Amino acid sequence: MENAGNSSHHQEDLVLIHNVPMLKSIANNWEQVEGFQARPDDLIIATYPKAGTTWVSEIVDIVHNNGDVAKSSQAPIYYRVPYMEFFMHPEKNIPGMRYLNSMASPRLIKTHLPVQLLPKSMWENKCKIIYMARNAKDVAVSFFYFHHNIKALPDVGTWEEFLQKYIAGKVSYGSWHDHVKGWWKKRQEHPILYLFYEDMKEDPANEIRKLMRFLEKDLREEVLEKIIHHTSFQFMKKNPMTNYEGLSHDTVFPFMRKGITGDWKNHFTVAQNEIFDADYARKMEGSGLQFRTEI
Ligand code: A3P
Repeated sequence: MENAGNSSHHQEDLVLIHNVPMLKSIANNWEQVEGFQARPDDLIIATYPKAGTTWVSEIVDIVHNNGDVAKSSQAPIYYRVPYMEFFMHPEKNIPGMRYLNSMASPRLIKTHLPVQLLPKSMWENKCKIIYMARNAKDVAVSFFYFHHNIKALPDVGTWEEFLQKYIAGKVSYGSWHDHVKGWWKKRQEHPILYLFYEDMKEDPANEIRKLMRFLEKDLREEVLEKIIHHTSFQFMKKNPMTNYEGLSHDTVFPFMRKGITGDWKNHFTVAQNEIFDADYARKMEGSGLQFRTEI
């Protein structure tokens, strides 16, 4: 893939942090990430990239605001739910850690960190965490397009080349398998609400009710209906506060790409699928985690 030929869009390499490949801009600021000061009323949204982070962030923000969609429409999602370990493009003033440090409580915080790399103050402060997981195959496809969209991300080559790297965990944030398993296990000892993209897609009312219980919000059914409408793929795709419009002048595909379960079938060859499934079975055996790749 070509570079944009613009210094603000140079491609970043991956650097190992405690054995997890991370973007160089994050690795270079690792002390700040490790030392991040959480507060007890911080609400953390954790995901592997492309698992529906923006979607669940929008839902959580609105629930947190007691269903006030007008309030949630006042700022882009990356201001309402800042990306904790983000240090890329400082010149574009995209909020990251510095913004979070100066933000008034209560804060909603996005992170893609695997569970073992979460700043320890988040555990010490017993912050509530919402984890959203999405099946490995649809994440792979979404992540592949994302790399071709954001020119600052490493060159991952063709779909076949990317898939090999993804299976091997040699992509930003490392292995999908380790990520979903690590967070799944942690929920036994910490307040973590573990959600699935596929469930949210199939029955948003049910999943949003879980979220409301977790956040101790008792919203009326009509408010719930309003939230479902406001956070549907179609609505969010048109909503400039959620579609990353304006930040994506160099993108090829819209951030809100397809928003479905099962798009992997349009990308995996039969051979790729067999290799993927065999590797998957080995890595996920005994985890107790069940994902749906179609709904
Ligand atoms: P696709 O590339 O498969 O379309 P993240 O926010 O973690 O980067 O995830 C982005 C993925 O979530 C994209 O997947 C995007 O289309 C999808 N997504 C965003 N909002 C959604 C919504 N309201 N409903 C369903 N999928 C959504």
